[in-house]
Amino acid sequence: MKTLRKNKFLRRALALLLVCMISFTACTSEEQKEPGQIEENRSGIKIGMSFDSFIIERWRRDCDVFVSKIKEYDSNADVMVQNANGDIETQKSQIRYLIEKKVDVLVIVCIDSESLNDVCYEAKTAGIPIIAYDRLIKNSNVDLYISFDNEMVGTLMGNALVEEGLPNRKVLMLSGPNEDNNVSMVESGFRNVMQQHGVMITDCVHAAGWKAEISAEYVNQHLTDLSDVDAIMCGNDNIATTIIRTLAEARMAGKIKIVGQDADLEACQRIVEGTQVMTVYKPVEKLAQAAAEYAIQLAEKKPLTDVTNTIFDGTYDVPYFYLEPIAVTKDNIDETIIDSGFHLKEDVYLNVRED
Ligand code: BGC
Repeated sequence: MKTLRKNKFLRRALALLLVCMISFTACTSEEQKEPGQIEENRSGIKIGMSFDSFIIERWRRDCDVFVSKIKEYDSNADVMVQNANGDIETQKSQIRYLIEKKVDVLVIVCIDSESLNDVCYEAKTAGIPIIAYDRLIKNSNVDLYISFDNEMVGTLMGNALVEEGLPNRKVLMLSGPNEDNNVSMVESGFRNVMQQHGVMITDCVHAAGWKAEISAEYVNQHLTDLSDVDAIMCGNDNIATTIIRTLAEARMAGKIKIVGQDADLEACQRIVEGTQVMTVYKPVEKLAQAAAEYAIQLAEKKPLTDVTNTIFDGTYDVPYFYLEPIAVTKDNIDETIIDSGFHLKEDVYLNVRED
């Protein structure tokens, strides 16, 4: 009987000690928490992301950085990512699904800048703020448009070609689709530079859905017209990849100067190998991180910090935050692409022998 009571006492004392130890650890870890450290106890914001598609290299990176930044802030956050595979109706129904799921914020990379006003209206009616990510959504009064200075992208492409020299003063443009609002902005920057230098634009082709095979088909059908064209402005590096291959197959490799945008790995490799003049590096990590911070502010119904610009969406002036794009050539690829960690040196210089 005595040993039984003694055991009971010992067990109680041990249990008490354990409770004390646990609460002590909890207290100290709370006190030691650095600002910006992962907060385990947040309620869990819900964010809906709607992507055009993941075919182009950059978008996976945009998505991953965005999700990890949100999770860093709120480990209980739920980021629902939808991929419309380039189909407008799919994108609309995926956005409607996210509205039904009562997300706190919608982040949209639209396929067609003109076709989302209905769903955006539905989201707004449901009290869900919208971020137009990288591409402007027209006439929809979104809460934020976050992108790069797209006109500057075109200006940088134009300047790079002018610096390279355009002896025949003839350039072809193989752009993206008109439905992507960035396309007209890039073109306007590019056209201005060409005009200033008296360069003729022989044609401007818009590849529907950013499908590079459409641009390649054009090139194949116009090979003779290309004989005196100095350069091709490619809407992005994916188009540049296909065009350089197409020209090589037609034994015209190296005769026409090529520029693109996105700093895709293959484009960076071509720049150091000398088969592409330049690309435009857009630090998408910074864009995605900023978008994540703004998504949190919108979810928490706080005012957006540091957004001082607006852009006209066709009906409304909407808050506009943009980052500067950077021209990348052989001369600065190490500082811009490698030092920033965007690509590894060994990957960029994979096919270049060090002498
Ligand atoms: C973006 C480019 C991208 C293209 C195709 C454009 O809106 O600005 O960076 O290459 O879409 O996805």
